[in-house]
Amino acid sequence: MKKQRGFVFRCTGCGHEDPKWLGRCPECGEWNTLVETPVAASFTSGRSGGAKGIPPQSFPLSSIDPQEGKRISSGIGELDRVLGGGIMKRSAILVGGEPGIGKSTLLLQAAAAAVTKGRILYVSGEESAGQVRMRADRLGIGGEGIEICCTGRLPEIETILEAVKPVIIMVDSAQTLHTDEAGLVPGTVNQMKYCSWELISWTKEHDAALFLTAHVTKEGIISGPKTLEHMVDTVLYFEQAASGGNDGDSRFLRAAKNRFGSVDEIGIFTMGEKGLQAVADPSLLFLVHREGGLPPGTVIAAVLEGSRPLLVEIQALAVPAKGSMSRVFSDRIDSARVSRVAATLEKHLNLRLSDHDLYINVAGGIRITEVGVELALALALYSARTGIPLPSGTAVAGELSLAGELRPIRRLAGRIKAARSLGFEDFLGPIDSSAEAGTFAETAGLRAVGDLKSAITTLFK
Ligand code: TYD
Ligand code: MG
Repeated sequence: MKKQRGFVFRCTGCGHEDPKWLGRCPECGEWNTLVETPVAASFTSGRSGGAKGIPPQSFPLSSIDPQEGKRISSGIGELDRVLGGGIMKRSAILVGGEPGIGKSTLLLQAAAAAVTKGRILYVSGEESAGQVRMRADRLGIGGEGIEICCTGRLPEIETILEAVKPVIIMVDSAQTLHTDEAGLVPGTVNQMKYCSWELISWTKEHDAALFLTAHVTKEGIISGPKTLEHMVDTVLYFEQAASGGNDGDSRFLRAAKNRFGSVDEIGIFTMGEKGLQAVADPSLLFLVHREGGLPPGTVIAAVLEGSRPLLVEIQALAVPAKGSMSRVFSDRIDSARVSRVAATLEKHLNLRLSDHDLYINVAGGIRITEVGVELALALALYSARTGIPLPSGTAVAGELSLAGELRPIRRLAGRIKAARSLGFEDFLGPIDSSAEAGTFAETAGLRAVGDLKSAITTLFK
């Protein structure tokens, strides 16, 4: 057993503890930040989370009130969808995104629209009360039931929490939180973790819900917010559609982690004069409106985003390879999937693609990870390579096997319905006799084919 020592060397920046003094903290890389600290006062041994002074207890599972799992609607349908059906009480939600993407706007709009009789506390460590008021005016928010305080100091926030007893707490942003208890240097990861943890504990003890915003940079997710991810229940990322879409102002809200729902759902918004607006028909964002027919290399795919069918335009370009090795350029659809579909085409249709560089894009800049996109991908590559356009008015969906067969996909009838509602009369998809495929009426208008070869002869005859 290690001998109990009276002190450790603790980094004032990140809270890292070391038994010996070091010039540079091995955790955060800061110089001269390790100071001798009595073990009793050290961060990790001093607090192990949870309520203070209460002996630990266990409960029979059956005695737990199921009402604890109740959800509050945020009043914003797209946000509720991504959260898994509303804001779960006692949950902590991290909203990450680049500066200017709309995190503060989303939180303020949710504060105004949330369906609750309780009070909502909006804590802004970045903007003054006047700035928040101006934003609220712009959004047409009166602000009844919303309390605001402009500070990042944890002790002040805690005092206000006890006075207001809010049901929803919005903290904008986690990076501005600080307290003297968590080290001398403000703005460090340790400060953010310590303060966020205190707020999360308060939230759980008081049956409230907590939203925390966090900035992430373009280069990727910086270490700060990443360290919060395991502390919260839900992590949402707000991202902008890549340029080149129909509407540069569209934004996607995705769940990267969700203890209370799936992470497949996305929320789609546009940022306008009056703040964030839900997009009623997302397909309109991703379809390119053209006079005349489709150019070669473009195909309309009916894919699923979470539980929602979406029509997107897949674009392919095949040009003779510039190097001795051909390459795949595709950042919206996994390049491995593109290579596999290209290999399947090459093998089963004798279409030479391996000496071509392949470029794949999805109009509107949305990332597609669903298998149902594979048939569209194959047809786009075929059309791009041969120069033969697809007939317009046709939407397609299906998964491809390596043997070139077309495999059944989830929610075929839903996809057909979505396509028809947008004016696509013709639908090409897999043969599916399962009950999930829908009744005959629902799938009427489907041209069902069993493999890639017959899909191509059907469309390009
Ligand atoms: P904001 O919510 O401040 O972003 P974040 O908190 O993620 O940094 O949103 C900022 C951007 O949104 C800013 O460029 C202005 C724009 N905006 C609108 O276009 N319309 C609006 O109604 C509002 C409130 C903001
Ligand atoms: Mg902001």
